[in-house]
Amino acid sequence: MTSAESRQGSRSGHGVSRRGLIGGGAAAAGLAGAFAAGRATAAEPAGTSGAAGPSYAFRGEHQAGITTPAQDRLHFAAFDVTTRSRAQLVALLKAWTEAADRMTRGLPAGEVGPVEGAVDMPPDDTGEAIGLPASGLTITFGFGPTLFHDAAGRDRFGLADRRPAALEELPHFPGDVLDPARSYGDLCVQACAQDPQVAVHAIRNLARVGFGAVSVRWSQLGFGRTSTTSTSQSTPRNLFGFKDGTANVKAEETAALAEHVCVGSRDDERADWLVGGSYLVARRIGMGIETWDRQGLGDQEASIGRTKSTGAPLSGGGEHATPDFSMPGSDGPVIPRGCHLSVVHPDHNGGARMLRRGYNFVDGTNALGGLDAGLFFLAYVRDPRTHFIPVQMRMAKVDALMEYLRVTGSALFAVPPGVGPGEHVGQALFA
Ligand code: HEM
Repeated sequence: MTSAESRQGSRSGHGVSRRGLIGGGAAAAGLAGAFAAGRATAAEPAGTSGAAGPSYAFRGEHQAGITTPAQDRLHFAAFDVTTRSRAQLVALLKAWTEAADRMTRGLPAGEVGPVEGAVDMPPDDTGEAIGLPASGLTITFGFGPTLFHDAAGRDRFGLADRRPAALEELPHFPGDVLDPARSYGDLCVQACAQDPQVAVHAIRNLARVGFGAVSVRWSQLGFGRTSTTSTSQSTPRNLFGFKDGTANVKAEETAALAEHVCVGSRDDERADWLVGGSYLVARRIGMGIETWDRQGLGDQEASIGRTKSTGAPLSGGGEHATPDFSMPGSDGPVIPRGCHLSVVHPDHNGGARMLRRGYNFVDGTNALGGLDAGLFFLAYVRDPRTHFIPVQMRMAKVDALMEYLRVTGSALFAVPPGVGPGEHVGQALFA
């Protein structure tokens, strides 16, 4: 038996977990280890933490990666659909569903695995996650406006009459200096995990699976979550050094999720397929951190409206105290009217809230030798026309923070509801 035959003979990698592939040369030992480790990950219910770390079920009523406790690492990718065939697009979504279901369980992307297949074929998993557990991986899919119609308004895949009215490219906001190569997209995939290699592995394998049907338009790596999506999490800090995520919509706030995040059954009659889903706003916001670092602590706090130490509103109390916007200070309200907290607060935006799920990024240095750093802002909302665009417009016009910000990327996606047993992502859209 040649080594190729012997490796073909071991194509029984179905269900083998990546942990089982540690030291993957010895097939028998690998499979035995895989069986035990595979049980550990695959059998875990959603959101449990076992020996292999946390894992979240891919299938469910809602897509994971929205209210799931925000993980520490992100790889986000927007794709252009390159095929003109609706059947090929549906086949892609089926293949993506299978691969995502497997990878979120800590399994290789394909059934054969990275080292078990025929030597004359590319492996159906790229291998860099061998030995790594699920790491809390969630994979969340979205559909951009350009999936429904092209730039000339032509229906691309027979979906135009199912495009939600709210799914239009975001308007231009003051301060936007958008790079088209970092903006828009027909499809998006948000991969979040505790381990960056696991998140990158997920995007890379989905791009590989999609070869011939999609190409990556842009992608963004993120580290250090800048929000909390569960009351069980402590509040992290953004690159300005301030606590971020204090007043975010949390998974435990079921009424707020229904009101501000989840698309309702009567929201849009031509988009019944989106009921139970959401809209995802993605904004790559460059932060002038060198300029920020030269501001006095008092000025920094006056720009945010909260203290840098505890994150409490400048009107006093603890981190979660309700801000008092009318409390007088020595020169106007103690929480300045133009600070970020005041400008974006629901009291000043018709009650609108959003579920923020952003990440810090540092993409090397810019032409001036400063850090190309910022916040990759991600927010899930029930309707961008009421819950994001007016807030962003107000922020762009009057927020003191804008002096330090430069938005270089922007996109909007409709995020379908969860995937049931035997279904594929977005099945109701194509039904
Ligand atoms: C680099 C850009 C940004 C930075 C550094 C930043 C920073 C912060 C900080 C420190 C807080 C206070 C803590 C908290 O409640 O989370 C906050 C709150 C908030 N931010 Fe931002 N933010 C940025 C961009 C945005 C954008 C683009 C929007 C939406 C248009 C936004 C919407 C909000 C909202 C809704 C709150 C909660 C307000 C409340 O309910 O009290 N932020 N942000």
